[in-house]
Amino acid sequence: MNKSTESKKALITGINGQDGSYLAEFLLSKGYVVHGMIRRSSVINTERIHHLYTDKDVMNKSLFLHYGDVTDTSNLTHLIRKIKPLEIYNLAAQSHVKVSFEIPEVTANVDAIGPLRILETIRNLGLENSIKLYQASTSELFGLVNDRKIKQNEKTSFYPRSPYSVAKLYGYWIVKNYRESYGMFCSNGILFNHESERRSFNFVSRKITLGLAKVKCGISPFLELGNIDSKRDWGYAKEYVESMWLMLQRKEPKDYVIATGKVYSVRDFAENSAKLLGFDIEWRGKGVSEIGVDKKTDKTIIKINPKYFRPAEVDYLCGDSSLAKKELGWEAKTDFFELVKIMTKHDYDLITRGKLERF
Ligand code: NAP
Ligand code: GDD
Repeated sequence: MNKSTESKKALITGINGQDGSYLAEFLLSKGYVVHGMIRRSSVINTERIHHLYTDKDVMNKSLFLHYGDVTDTSNLTHLIRKIKPLEIYNLAAQSHVKVSFEIPEVTANVDAIGPLRILETIRNLGLENSIKLYQASTSELFGLVNDRKIKQNEKTSFYPRSPYSVAKLYGYWIVKNYRESYGMFCSNGILFNHESERRSFNFVSRKITLGLAKVKCGISPFLELGNIDSKRDWGYAKEYVESMWLMLQRKEPKDYVIATGKVYSVRDFAENSAKLLGFDIEWRGKGVSEIGVDKKTDKTIIKINPKYFRPAEVDYLCGDSSLAKKELGWEAKTDFFELVKIMTKHDYDLITRGKLERF
């Protein structure tokens, strides 16, 4: 255990999400006492941290879960006053871009006003000199990228393309504004897409690895996708959470881009995952009629369904995280091919063992 962080207390909003679960593991391994905010749900929503809270040693000493919601100021006040964490990681969000077009007000309330409520609560409790805040910002802020020759970094201008990214843009600026106005220690982590075997089913990476595993095992005839020519900079969530912590260990607060610097399409993701499962995809047709056919069996295993298209798309994102490498000593280790392998293997095992979790 690291002595300097032995008694540090952290509060994670969104602890039961993909990143929250990895961050909780990471902070616990550093000797932190971790407090996590979870929402009341009619079904069990703590699968990702189940292994932590069933460990009696961890639960009795180092991990505490609290009901809460970042749309509830009185709850935030109560929790922050009671816990008095030294670090708050605000990961709570309606994080699905396509869904944000359907519930734009909820998305704004959680993703934009949520960070404002946390900042104001810290100030109202007079804790602005003792609490450091990490805000989960996003590469979606860059949105419409005109020049693909230049990777996006901390100086690149923003052009959000969804209610989600517009809400996150407010979150980004309000964090920066409170830092400049009140000298608060708060940092935006501008993280590019990061995936894992804990990713929710409705993000494209997990949808592909799980969907193709189901096709392989004869559970589904084919997988339906939207825009397969969209390109992303995909990293491994497990190692991205360390950058969040590193940002709060700096002397001065600053915003950082976290990315791999490499870009691949949704099509590349599907082809690589399919190959690992023993398929050999050939693309036939164009546009919404395009299909992915397994050359070995001549069966269609991927179809396009326009219902997965977005009203406005982000076609291309590729990050430059050289500042994080220089100042935080952070860089991505797991490449795209390794990531696809981890997720594909995990989901194939899951299906063949008949153990399909909810997330
Ligand atoms: P995720 O798996 O969707 O987790 C989101 C978490 O937020 C869940 O625990 C969710 O709880 C919680 N939450 C939602 N609304 C809430 C509310 N009103 N009050 C309290 N908690 C609430 O997302 P993730 O991939 O871990 O991402 C974590 C954060 O990073 C998000 O803010 C996301 O926008 C941002 N981000 C993610 C990526 C990425 O590629 N993963 C990239 C850039 C930025 P429930 O389970 O109850 O819904
Ligand atoms: N979800 C989904 N489902 N996306 C699809 C599909 C499909 O069937 N078919 C193609 N896509 C395309 C989307 O149109 C998008 O261009 C790309 O795949 C990635 O979509 P998602 O996996 O849903 O992620 P995202 O890039 O929109 O958003 C994620 O990354 C952001 C960081 O850039 C989320 O984690 C956000 O919370 C995060 O901020």
